[in-house]
Amino acid sequence: MTAGLIWLAAVDKNIFTALGAMIGTAVTAVGTISAWQNRRHDRRQQLLDKAVEKLVTAVALEMKAEEKLRRLQDPWPLRVRWVNTRRPIADHWQAIHGVPERDHAIDLSGKLEDVAAVLGKVPSQRLVVLGEPGSGKTILSLCLVLGLLDRRKPQHPVPVRIPVSSWDPVDVGLREWMAGWLSENYRHLAVKAPSGDTLAQELVAAGQILPVLDGLDEIPQPSRLTALVKLNRESSRGDPLVLTCRAQEYEEVVTAPTGDVLTAAAVVELCPLDPHHLDDYLRVTTPQARVAKWDPVLQNITGHPDGPVAHRLCPLR
Ligand SMILES: Nc1ncnc2c1ncn2[C@@H]1O[C@H](COP(=O)(O)OP(=O)(O)O)[C@@H](O)[C@H]1O
Ligand SMILES: [Mg+2]
Repeated sequence: MTAGLIWLAAVDKNIFTALGAMIGTAVTAVGTISAWQNRRHDRRQQLLDKAVEKLVTAVALEMKAEEKLRRLQDPWPLRVRWVNTRRPIADHWQAIHGVPERDHAIDLSGKLEDVAAVLGKVPSQRLVVLGEPGSGKTILSLCLVLGLLDRRKPQHPVPVRIPVSSWDPVDVGLREWMAGWLSENYRHLAVKAPSGDTLAQELVAAGQILPVLDGLDEIPQPSRLTALVKLNRESSRGDPLVLTCRAQEYEEVVTAPTGDVLTAAAVVELCPLDPHHLDDYLRVTTPQARVAKWDPVLQNITGHPDGPVAHRLCPLR
């Protein structure tokens, strides 16, 4: 073979010269294309990084404004707690762990200030939070977003609270809805990326959003079931996700004849408020001059923890 080449070279050196030139040109062309592609990729990444940075600031500002409006730090938030649900409506622990041999349950009980850390304990990062009406699910999702933003590293997805009431799952897919909602609420994400998609669509497709979907119960049944089906179809165990819902309504969706659990998701339930904590809290949040006026009501909460006043103020009691 080598002898053959030497012979060929001897016959016509020009063939090799031409061949060399052609290869050189091809290599240069490939190099140019790949440099152009790299630049394009860098430009796209820069655009997305900037969009993420702006989104983080906007979400943090928005959540802090709501925290202020709801006077959650005045003087402090109520001690909302939760425990793992006892209802058979979570996925199997093996699915949550993502390892067939691992089936041990993880204790996810916690209190409001630990909510981001509790999500961190779920291997799949997929969690459903259930509670009675008024038990604090929306406030918990606000605290979760703030907690996640606090611990967020640059490569982490951005937590965004999205009300499920803005979704018509019958006509619109999960990703399309999320991207549309993001574009409407954070205008800088409505801008088109070089691909022709909006930045919101790009962020959703790239898994850079951690959706905290608040209030599945706020859409009517049977749309809830469709929503759950689409959540399972359009997201998988690798996609972090938080969903809140009223407990009874969620159980009905999951246990319906065609119902299903949210894939790889653990489920916790908010606990009823402790009447003594509530009494203390209401006293501290009532101006001193008015405490005496409220005293009979406040005493009723602790004096009759199973009575109608406590029942009304401490959901589930
Ligand atoms: N941890 C908390 N501390 C103080 N107020 C709270 C807390 N959680 C909820 N609330 C108040 O209770 C009411 C109902 O809470 P919300 O989160 O909207 O309940 P849900 O979403 O479960 O229906 C709201 O007015 C909210 O401000
Ligand atoms: Mg709510």
